[in-house]
Amino acid sequence: MHTTGSRIAEIRRRLGPELLILGHHYQRAAVLRHADAVGDSLELSRHAAASRAPRIVFCGVRFMAESAAVLCGPGQTVYMPEMSAGCPMADMVRPGTLEAAWRTLNRNAADWLPVVYVNSSAEVKAFCGRHGGITCTSSNAGRAFKWAFARNRRVFFLPDEHLGANTAAELGLPDAHVLVYDYKREGGGVGADALSRARVALWKGFCLVHTAFTAAHIAAAREALPAARIIVHPETPREAARLADARGSTSQIIRYVQSAPDGATIVIGTELNLVQRLAEEQRERVTVKALAPSVCANMAKTNEANLLAVLETWDARRIVRVPADVAAGARAALERMLAL
Ligand code: 13P
Ligand code: SF4
Repeated sequence: MHTTGSRIAEIRRRLGPELLILGHHYQRAAVLRHADAVGDSLELSRHAAASRAPRIVFCGVRFMAESAAVLCGPGQTVYMPEMSAGCPMADMVRPGTLEAAWRTLNRNAADWLPVVYVNSSAEVKAFCGRHGGITCTSSNAGRAFKWAFARNRRVFFLPDEHLGANTAAELGLPDAHVLVYDYKREGGGVGADALSRARVALWKGFCLVHTAFTAAHIAAAREALPAARIIVHPETPREAARLADARGSTSQIIRYVQSAPDGATIVIGTELNLVQRLAEEQRERVTVKALAPSVCANMAKTNEANLLAVLETWDARRIVRVPADVAAGARAALERMLAL
């Protein structure tokens, strides 16, 4: 009897280098066992840019597959097993509200530069590219901020307030130099004084998976496991993130666990699929625990059944398309990041 997994394996064998399957760390293990490359969003962007495979299947969420579509060449097509796998945080920025914010920030001094987290639509990345800005991921946000400061510009960071706040704090910026732009309020809810003082403006977006981690979770983990080290993803709000021992992107979290001494206990605040996989992989050496169980419902939309469906049908409705003018702007911003 042919199982779903064995049919996927057979198609991969048949297509060989004609097919590249990319999988984000938050995917379930049953999907990742079929991936040619597993990584965080920065690593997967690099794989897409370097690949020559005519067919790329992206197991992740929409913004990641769009970045792959923007970075790969004209003879390559990017597919997603489940097109509705989006990112609610990326959806918190719409081109109209973004233009209004840009006008507000630039009213008195036009020295802002957009630094756009890759968890954003291709349109938002294109806006960034058109205005000379740069994209970043959670693993290189600090370098992207420094890139903008080195050009004597102020940073307009979007869409994740918390990654922006953690990055600004880690670079030693005082709170008075960081403002939050609330896109739901008139003029962003930003006063003229705060605007003139600010070196960084943060869009008030957030990730539901990571805002689930609180200072109370950290306190409870410290009490239950006093010898444990705690690491969280930098999309975790500052009040909790500052109490952790370390902050890092998905790949940085993996390296933290891999380099921990034998017998260590590590408590992790990020998506549960990654934490469970690490706990399983490292169980002979290190104890890995979740700070709290938090799952990305959109990442979970990809499974072996819809992966097989895309490989068997190559259904055009599963192609990730980015209009050429949008792709050009987005590519400029992504390539600045890849060159960092
Ligand atoms: P990474 O950049 O760590 O892969 O994170 C992507 C993401 O969506 C986190 O929520
Ligand atoms: Fe978006 Fe959060 Fe899911 Fe990452 S974990 S894809 S930021 S909703």
